[in-house]
Amino acid sequence: MFLPKVGAMDMVDIIRTKRDGGLLSTAQIRWVIDAYTHGGVAEEQMAALAMAIVLRGMERREIVDWTGAMIDSGVRMRWPGSVDKHSTGGVGDKITLPLGPLVAAHGVFVPQLSGRGLGHTGGTLDKLEAIAGWRAELSEAEMRAAPGGFVAAATADLAPADRRLYALRDVTGTVDSIPLIASSIMSKKIAEGTDGLVLDVKVGSGAFMKELADARELARTMVELGQDAGVRTCALITDMSTPLGRTVGNALEVREAVEVLAGGGPADVVELTLALAREMLALAGVDADPDAALRDGRAMDAWRAMIRHQGGDPDAPLPRARHTEDVVAERDGWVTGLDALEVGIASWRLGAGRARKEDPVQAGAGVEIHAPQGARVRRGDRLLTLHTDTPERFARAREVLHPHIGDTPPAPRALIEEQIG
Ligand code: URA
Repeated sequence: MFLPKVGAMDMVDIIRTKRDGGLLSTAQIRWVIDAYTHGGVAEEQMAALAMAIVLRGMERREIVDWTGAMIDSGVRMRWPGSVDKHSTGGVGDKITLPLGPLVAAHGVFVPQLSGRGLGHTGGTLDKLEAIAGWRAELSEAEMRAAPGGFVAAATADLAPADRRLYALRDVTGTVDSIPLIASSIMSKKIAEGTDGLVLDVKVGSGAFMKELADARELARTMVELGQDAGVRTCALITDMSTPLGRTVGNALEVREAVEVLAGGGPADVVELTLALAREMLALAGVDADPDAALRDGRAMDAWRAMIRHQGGDPDAPLPRARHTEDVVAERDGWVTGLDALEVGIASWRLGAGRARKEDPVQAGAGVEIHAPQGARVRRGDRLLTLHTDTPERFARAREVLHPHIGDTPPAPRALIEEQIG
């Protein structure tokens, strides 16, 4: 396709067009992304354009063009017959860990290229790195030799425009935009090159999308982008108003994922793992109920093989934080509010997450939940245990936590709110 040379378009005109609510042409979008990737657009200009998009939005054709240009900024991989799952990010969301092996146990290849966690939602790579020896950097040959699938760091040549733009959006208050989130996620997933993709779009306080209507629009936009690109795509919209499962934090979440693979684990984690596995298997054309593979050890065998392939020791004890402190109930009643965002920020402050992408994370840090939303408690019962290697962090973590105890049980909330596609 014809690309005007860097400098042939006026970036200030493009920014003004979007600022004033106009549409960007296909040629303008392709030029902006190409020029930005190659250093022909200044960071402050791209930040201004991103803010104009946050405020003015983009039409469907513009989103398709933006996504296509970001895909074309790098390489495209191909994994025939494979499926992947992507979550828009939540607190305690360790589902990728049991889900990949569970689907792989049915003979479907699950290649997962992932980024690191930033902010209050943890990254899958950080979680897996809590396992002794496990490494996220794989060569393409190692990926292709993986037993059933892998989780690896996305290489720098996969949608490099997004890599640069996401880092810029992160520090310029321009993450929260449906067109920018949808194109960012889908450019990476389409470039990754699986045949099928199941999206877990989170809604609630701990998610990007706080309202169901916004989550629905994000899900629809992503499903359409995937389907237009020839990737069989569907989405589940799932609750993220309270943390998923009983643990938040890297090693703590691996422990819980292993419990699920052993046929146990918290009911909500099991329910969501199975729901997503059913969608992935259906996209791959496999008619099987994944429940059996959790109970008969096949999913666990697949997990162990996948961890070993990436240098990890599935039998090594998981790291534990050096210090713990309990948060206890101040009265009798029911836990009516255990807010996902509060717990996510507390876990992050305890050392489980990072503020800048070069920061280290503590493998053992995080929050263990003894009394989830809806639990009945008595005064003095443990609600949460906070874990960290650096006890001076406890006070800042406690500051953000306000678990609410009421006189009556809260109304039950559906974990899976809707399916799209
Ligand atoms: N995850 C991404 O990869 N991109 C976004 O814009 C938001 C979440």
